[in-house]
Amino acid sequence: MDYEALIAKAMEARKKAYAPYSHFAVGAALLAKSGRVYTGCNVENASYGLSICAERTAVFKAVSEGEREFEALAVVTENGVTPCGACRQVLLEFGDDIQVIVADEAGGHRVFGLQELLPEAFNSEDLG
Ligand code: THU
Repeated sequence: MDYEALIAKAMEARKKAYAPYSHFAVGAALLAKSGRVYTGCNVENASYGLSICAERTAVFKAVSEGEREFEALAVVTENGVTPCGACRQVLLEFGDDIQVIVADEAGGHRVFGLQELLPEAFNSEDLG
């Protein structure tokens, strides 16, 4: 699947964002090595700290369906920002070579390697 197609899926997922507090809608689409795509959106809560990001929604959906290996993640926001630190760390758990594509509403995009977004990361190997 090419990046444009993955971005299109993230844009669709973004329409489902539940963001009544921040009004910042985020959509994600995670391509597993199996070829399947898992989407996610942010889901906020009146108890703000319980909100979850779009990226982690997608990762948890995928892993709970048995996926462990991923090729790429597309994230769409109004302004094409990169994923938060928590989501970078959660992604890294499943591989430091995942490509992260960030796109804006107009479809412009940038591509990053996860190592680039989270250098010198703590990971499972650090537990000894
Ligand atoms: N958000 C995401 O979904 N992904 C990110 O990487 C950054 C932030 C969400 C969380 C919250 O619902 C809203 O965007 C504003 O922070």
